[in-house]
Amino acid sequence: MNVLGIETSCDETAAAVVADGCRVRSNVVFSQVALHQPYGGIVPEIASRNHTLHLPGVLTEAVRQAGMAWHQVDAVAVTYGPGLASSLLVGLSAAKALALRLHKPLIGINHLEAHVYSVCLEAETPAPPAAGAFLALIVSGGHTCLMRVDGLGQYRRLGQTRDDAAGEAFDKGAQLLGLGYPGGPAIDQISRAGNPQAVRFPRSRAGAAAHDGRATSLDFSFSGLKTALRYYLKSQPVGTDRSRLADIAASYQEAIVDMLVAGVARAMQRERIAALVVAGGVCLNHRLREKTTDLARRHGARLWLASPAYGGDNAAMVAGLAGAGQGVRGDAALTLDACPNLGIGDAKKSEIRLGFRSRFGVGGSTKLETISKPEY
Ligand code: KG4
Ligand code: ZN
Repeated sequence: MNVLGIETSCDETAAAVVADGCRVRSNVVFSQVALHQPYGGIVPEIASRNHTLHLPGVLTEAVRQAGMAWHQVDAVAVTYGPGLASSLLVGLSAAKALALRLHKPLIGINHLEAHVYSVCLEAETPAPPAAGAFLALIVSGGHTCLMRVDGLGQYRRLGQTRDDAAGEAFDKGAQLLGLGYPGGPAIDQISRAGNPQAVRFPRSRAGAAAHDGRATSLDFSFSGLKTALRYYLKSQPVGTDRSRLADIAASYQEAIVDMLVAGVARAMQRERIAALVVAGGVCLNHRLREKTTDLARRHGARLWLASPAYGGDNAAMVAGLAGAGQGVRGDAALTLDACPNLGIGDAKKSEIRLGFRSRFGVGGSTKLETISKPEY
């Protein structure tokens, strides 16, 4: 079955064709990074406008690169949340129109579940077992959560960030360091020449200290670290010293990575699971890859790290997950609304909020109502 996937939840306009849930026939991503760079972050209005402009061309290219004609598409899959409301709506509307025009089924996909599935697209690595538990660390610009996955569609959230997402911590840190946007790749790059032990930034004990009655919480917190960096730079300005800048960036990165890895280590012990998936844009960070690889070796655990092609936002993971039988299907898909705050591993509730994600620094969010998450 050839599924045409569409992904417009944030600032990447993406389309892909995946056969039978795992064979990627095309994977086209139009990155809007250059358009948002002058503003130091993603501007929702610019993102949605450019999705509208570029999605038709990206879709045509995905079908062309797959060597197919439109009528050979068997189903259309689309991300319906979480993400920016105005961006999600562009992809969702296009997907509905396309499915109706082609007389093919529409499948609504949860972006976070798609990130977890992204490691199944790697040709060389065997996919994690469809049944059987593994841990999944999803680390992106908008989300940081640690899941227990007992098979596709069976997610239990073990921990999440209480404030900034890990990618947001990278982006805000880079801004303070004058490294531009997006901050993750910039900090990753300059850190290679720096000493990660040069500055001892604080590691939040959010996960270790909090108790939910029975078990230790596996939550993360990154906002204190960002504040520590701000005060450090105020008291000891970097000036034009590139090597000091590299040391500070490497030390800041080390603190983020240490907190993530500590959370995973606690989850491995608590859940007695020796299998780990790391996905989402931040999984491309070289230090996180080194440290999770080391952790997996010490625990005798199996590890799946999403590759550059599938780590960041892309539509192959959306088409793949749909091809694997997941997602909202049937008439329910055609009446789906964009769900900006769609969760993963929650009780069947998700909140619809109006506004922008705080990481963009352009406004808060206003709680409107609570709706039932569609069954799937
Ligand atoms: O998954 P993604 O592409 O989009 C979202 O769903 O948000 O993640 C984007 C985030 C950004 O915050 C970016 O700075 C971060 O991933 N990122 C990195 C690296 N590459 C991207 N963070 C650290 N190191 C990297 N190499
Ligand atoms: Zn993402």
